[in-house]
Amino acid sequence: MNLDFVPMPGAQACATALARHLGTRVTALESRRFPDGEIYLRVLGDVAGRHIAVVAQLRDPDPQLPGLLFLADALRDLGATGVGLVAPYLPYMRQDTRFRPGEAITSRSFARIVSAAFDWLATVDPHLHRVASLDALYAIRSAAVPSAPAIARWVQAEVAQPQIVGPDEESAQWVAEVARLAGCPFSVLRKQRRGDREVEIAWADTAALRGRTPVLVDDIVSSGQTLATAVRVLRAAGLAAPVCVGVHALFDPEAVANVLAAGAARVVSCNTLPHPSNAIDLTAALAQAIPGIAA
Ligand code: R5P
Repeated sequence: MNLDFVPMPGAQACATALARHLGTRVTALESRRFPDGEIYLRVLGDVAGRHIAVVAQLRDPDPQLPGLLFLADALRDLGATGVGLVAPYLPYMRQDTRFRPGEAITSRSFARIVSAAFDWLATVDPHLHRVASLDALYAIRSAAVPSAPAIARWVQAEVAQPQIVGPDEESAQWVAEVARLAGCPFSVLRKQRRGDREVEIAWADTAALRGRTPVLVDDIVSSGQTLATAVRVLRAAGLAAPVCVGVHALFDPEAVANVLAAGAARVVSCNTLPHPSNAIDLTAALAQAIPGIAA
């Protein structure tokens, strides 16, 4: 297949795994900072006439964005036929409306910037809440790979008598699908966010969970406060220690410890971002989606 992967710094393992799945190759990138902080990039291979997929791990997107855009531009300048972006975690999806006058709607701005630089985008479970699909934001071809099948397989293999629990209304879309595929029930809690690191969670019906192991599933785990608060609510109701599954392990340094201290039995994540909690491999699902949008 005429498709080479070029990894941004930190994305070599992901690019190599994707290339192995698709039987294609990785073209290395040399990258360093000049003394003044500007980025130096050099593509270490011939990309002329090739379709290129830039792979980026965008946990901390702001320092990476100039390099990402410069690389897309350089690849075109070097003769690449097309340039796509594989970002297993797609950042800047949560500020999707103007909550207060004057706020930047960064999900739209980020999408416009990426759409101007790349021909296509492949990601896993973008945080679609008030926006129905990536097409509403991105002007380029895109694939949103669902994590639910892989999470459901993991739950079936690892958890006895599971009940999938979503910590807030927006998680209903993921937990319903995981539960359907795993063949078990699900519930959704109600969350109110009081601040970046402060949430309140309400729970109306604990009876349904008696005798089951709650499996909390959230798409993004950042401070871990959502999961920790949900765990405390479930434990306070006398339920079994929950298993926690995060799709995108942004995880503050203390997040896993805080969720475990709240009473969780386990904290695991998908490998859309590298993290010691990674237990659910989405490489195959992501790889399968790429050929359909890349050429
Ligand atoms: C909310 O919009 C998301 O689905 C997650 O619930 C949220 O990002 C989790 O953030 P934190 O781990 O900081 O509570």
